[in-house]
Amino acid sequence: AGQGAGQGGRFAFKPVAIATDGTVHVPEGYTWKVLARWGDPLFSSAAPFSHETGGEAASADQVFGENTDGMELFLIGNRQVIAVNHEYVNPEINLPKTDKGTPASAEDVMKLQKLQGVTVMEVAEGENGWGIVVDSPFNRRITHLTPMKISGPAAGSDLLKTEADPTGTQSLGTFNNCGAGKTPWGTYLTCEENFNGYFGTTDAAFKLPDDYKRYGIVAETRYAYEKFDPRFDVAKNPNEPRRAGYVVEIDPSDASSTPVKRTALGRIKHENAAVVIARDGRVVVYMGDDERGEFLYKYVSNDVYVPGGDTSKLLDEGVLSVARFSDDGTGEWLALTPETTGMAADEIAVFTRQAASRVGATTMDRPEWVAVNPVAIEAYCCLTNNTRRGEVKDGKMRTNAGGDEMTVNAVNPREKNQYGQIVRWYPDQEDHAGTAFRWDLFLMAGNPVVHKDSAYAGSPNINEGNMFNSPDGMMFDTTGLLWIQTDGEDTNEGDFAGQGNNQMLAGDPVTGRIERFLTGPKGSEVTGLTWSADRRTLFVGIQHPDAPFPDGEGKLPRSSVIAIKRQDNALVG
Ligand code: FEO
Ligand code: CA
Ligand code: CA
Ligand code: CA
Repeated sequence: AGQGAGQGGRFAFKPVAIATDGTVHVPEGYTWKVLARWGDPLFSSAAPFSHETGGEAASADQVFGENTDGMELFLIGNRQVIAVNHEYVNPEINLPKTDKGTPASAEDVMKLQKLQGVTVMEVAEGENGWGIVVDSPFNRRITHLTPMKISGPAAGSDLLKTEADPTGTQSLGTFNNCGAGKTPWGTYLTCEENFNGYFGTTDAAFKLPDDYKRYGIVAETRYAYEKFDPRFDVAKNPNEPRRAGYVVEIDPSDASSTPVKRTALGRIKHENAAVVIARDGRVVVYMGDDERGEFLYKYVSNDVYVPGGDTSKLLDEGVLSVARFSDDGTGEWLALTPETTGMAADEIAVFTRQAASRVGATTMDRPEWVAVNPVAIEAYCCLTNNTRRGEVKDGKMRTNAGGDEMTVNAVNPREKNQYGQIVRWYPDQEDHAGTAFRWDLFLMAGNPVVHKDSAYAGSPNINEGNMFNSPDGMMFDTTGLLWIQTDGEDTNEGDFAGQGNNQMLAGDPVTGRIERFLTGPKGSEVTGLTWSADRRTLFVGIQHPDAPFPDGEGKLPRSSVIAIKRQDNALVG
């Protein structure tokens, strides 16, 4: 059992039980309140939220967007500014007047386009808790329509040129912004994940280019952008989806700045971007590609980071590598270069998955967030689950479309892995920029009640009192405690009996002990976390609740960021 708040120790909270209800639970001695909900105004010009209409289309880019995800807090002078992702939309809720959320007009499509992307907002703590500083000069919405600059090896490539942008250096919008990252020079990194879902065509005769397959780009989409906005029709603009799937850098201190798509970090279904400075000063960015059987990546800058120096090329000029995990507990970062892949630099940046397949990377169980320990030279990645691992279909080992075989191996040790695991690696010579590492599994999630004495019971640090499935969001606090968020099955039945709703836990990297800190509302995923500048508030994202959270019965569910504090106002990480 854990210790109560105020009793000190590594876990300064009494763990919470599982929940199956429609709200948030935190430990005794802690409180939570909503900071921002989908539809809350960032500007006084925005129309007030309406539970009948899901808000006005015209002001959808003046409000807090839908489906909150990765976030970071920036201290700018004495202002606290949060940059936060809006991963995707739930059209049946956002467009309640339509037939099951199918957009029926260009206006419907524009509303969805504006509800996604990123919010940059100033926040402040007053007598009634934390809130958005409406009309702050830092407030900004970045959407599917915002002008972006393209930089790095693919900038200007023929692969990225379109009729509207014959230079291949300027695009519109950032898509499916999932996890995030923060650079030491004060910028926000937003990561484009399932970008494929926005591009399609109504032209049945159009033959999809071969490279689409590996990224899952198909003719029919749920959002129907292609029907009302020709930019998203791949028969008209076959290069448009090649301009998405990147890490995008945003300067939260300047609301008029142009976001930059950093193609040197590769085009994959980016989860997050965990930045660490190597011992020689080079910038290292760890990145997962969240798809069954895809890979884990690392970027290392050519130049070193000098505080106060020029940082404009640090994410443009460097080497992208992909991980091979050997069964003996060692591993290697394999560089993706024209020499190793036989592909040109722009092709590696745009067709990164195909490049990685040429060097012998290890197929993983869906790499989600990477977190780098601030007090030890090690990093962690959530491998959320992979129910097709080791599955043979029609006499063939399963792959991602056009990818590599998902044979069971030591780092992905379970067939039809429904629970997930967290891998940890220790760079050789304590150098995050190096090419060799050792690895182990920090935990294997499982169900020790349903599955006794098998790998599906989970690792020894998983027990009846702390079990969960599908680790996803993950971040260290400044003390080196690892916070883990889940995005899994919340049926509380069968293999998942006793695991309840999605949750947030804390893990001790030294002892392996795991304790549950929070449970989310039914149907929600707990994703995204950051801290106030004084570390007395923990901000946590609640995405796609399936209960009328947080406004109550009869109201639309609204994805929200909540603020968690201790009643004694002590530090929370
Ligand atoms: Fe958007 Fe892989 O989670
Ligand atoms: Ca995620
Ligand atoms: Ca997930
Ligand atoms: Ca999600």
